[in-house]
Amino acid sequence: MAKRFENKVVIVTGGTSGIGLATAKAFADEGASVFITGRRKETLDGAVKTIGGRVTGVQGDMSKLADIDRLYDAVQQNHSQIDVVFANAGGGEFAALGSITEEHYQSTFDTNVKGVLFTVQKALPLLRDGGSIVLTSSTTSISGTPNFSVYSATKAAIRSFARNWILDLKDRHIRVNAVSPGVTDTAGLNELFGGGEQASGTKDYLAGLIPAGRVGQPEEIAKAVLFLASDDASFVNGVELFVDGGQAQI
Ligand SMILES: NC(=O)c1ccc[n+]([C@@H]2O[C@H](COP(=O)([O-])OP(=O)(O)OC[C@H]3O[C@@H](n4cnc5c(N)ncnc54)[C@H](OP(=O)(O)O)[C@@H]3O)[C@@H](O)[C@H]2O)c1
Repeated sequence: MAKRFENKVVIVTGGTSGIGLATAKAFADEGASVFITGRRKETLDGAVKTIGGRVTGVQGDMSKLADIDRLYDAVQQNHSQIDVVFANAGGGEFAALGSITEEHYQSTFDTNVKGVLFTVQKALPLLRDGGSIVLTSSTTSISGTPNFSVYSATKAAIRSFARNWILDLKDRHIRVNAVSPGVTDTAGLNELFGGGEQASGTKDYLAGLIPAGRVGQPEEIAKAVLFLASDDASFVNGVELFVDGGQAQI
């Protein structure tokens, strides 16, 4: 079968772990030249080895504009254009209303909103007309979770970006879609849930609330991202695709 991303250049921010890592690997397996980012050098180097194929790791914090510039400088050293941007770097912590600090607000919005905004904006001069942008939102964009309001607000902002940017990019025929994972088994999620047995217990509990009866795997989110990024989704624009075992529909 023909590889869907042969000769394509794909950016995956936060491509060193979880959903980003699985998606970067899936793009590389389908023939793409992939650029991944992450802040931790060792994890970045490990991910480059795991992904194999044509992959380049660029260490950087996507909430910092100079680091985003370095990412696109690295791309330009070998490529004249980008085909796909998967703006995925993100994360969150619990904080109840009443104990939200300025630092919590700032770090969550800086990575999840500012980072995604400038990752996309700074890609535009290189992104080819007809290219595709996929943003990682979350089921929390439309639902409430105790002690998770700041994170959830960032993901609602991301969903809103997709709606608006399809208008800004209309003349260039660039599609923008959001993927909204539900509970997905990643290092980031395990850390959020306190690690070890505590995290396993929380995931088991949540699995019982999901119509599919289980949590998701990063590879399942990756398949949806590749669909949205590919020509198979040529008339899919501005949507939020929930990949959550049905959680957001009940
Ligand atoms: N897992 C879930 O249940 C779930 C559900 C809905 C949405 N999501 C979203 O999916 C995305 C990926 O999450 P995940 O669960 O795969 O988490 P993960 O396993 O913690 O992976 C997060 C990735 O993003 C990178 N990263 C974080 N902050 C960054 C920054 N400021 N600059 C550059 N890279 C950064 C991390 O590397 P470094 O730490 O080394 O920078 C890592 O590569 C996030 O946007 C998250 O909000 C996850």
